[in-house]
Amino acid sequence: MLNIVVLVSGGGTNLQAIIDAASSGEITNTRIAGVISNNKNAYALERAKNHGIKSLSISPKDFASRAEFNKSFLEAVDGLKPDLLVLAGFLVVIPPEMIERYRNRIINIHPSLIPSFCGTGYYGLKVHEAALARGVKVVGATVHFVDEGTDTGPIILQKAVDVEKGDTPETLQRRVMEQAEWKILPQAIDMLANGKVKVESGVVKVVEDDN
Ligand code: GRF
Repeated sequence: MLNIVVLVSGGGTNLQAIIDAASSGEITNTRIAGVISNNKNAYALERAKNHGIKSLSISPKDFASRAEFNKSFLEAVDGLKPDLLVLAGFLVVIPPEMIERYRNRIINIHPSLIPSFCGTGYYGLKVHEAALARGVKVVGATVHFVDEGTDTGPIILQKAVDVEKGDTPETLQRRVMEQAEWKILPQAIDMLANGKVKVESGVVKVVEDDN
């Protein structure tokens, strides 16, 4: 059984996709041990409560220094005994000590086809504004392991989505969420829960079924 902790900051639609996939059996061998948000008003926390999932909020704003936050944040995460941390729209920098302790056990969903439109400053609507400004015809989402960089860890899954005539950043964001994020994040969790993913020389290899 894979114990996962989902880290959120906003509406929690990706968290909801994980909850729904676990309920429907699309994700197997997995238990959501808790949800942590830096934003006490995040609707994602409501979603967790609605499903009886332990949730807590902890913010850098509540601490005198980032170092003190990082220490308490790590203690809160460790306390839930996760096998995997899932960043689902989490907007706080992951402390280096957490990345070290959970090496190749932290995944993130990014709303572009990495290496496009990623890295510092590329989050939320900004990603889709940049894609429309560049005039790309295809966008998408990526699930990747988290390392010390920003959106730089080994890529696990990607899914492409067409840009459509008349798209605004908002309509494009919604389509990428519906057609890509909400599908590949649960899929990646199920793959990890069932030993289908390994990292070789910084590249993810998907283990095919023997049959
Ligand atoms: C999603 O667009 C995701 O790609 C990005 O942050 C947003 C989170 O949305 N990382 P939600 O909180 O899951 O609805």
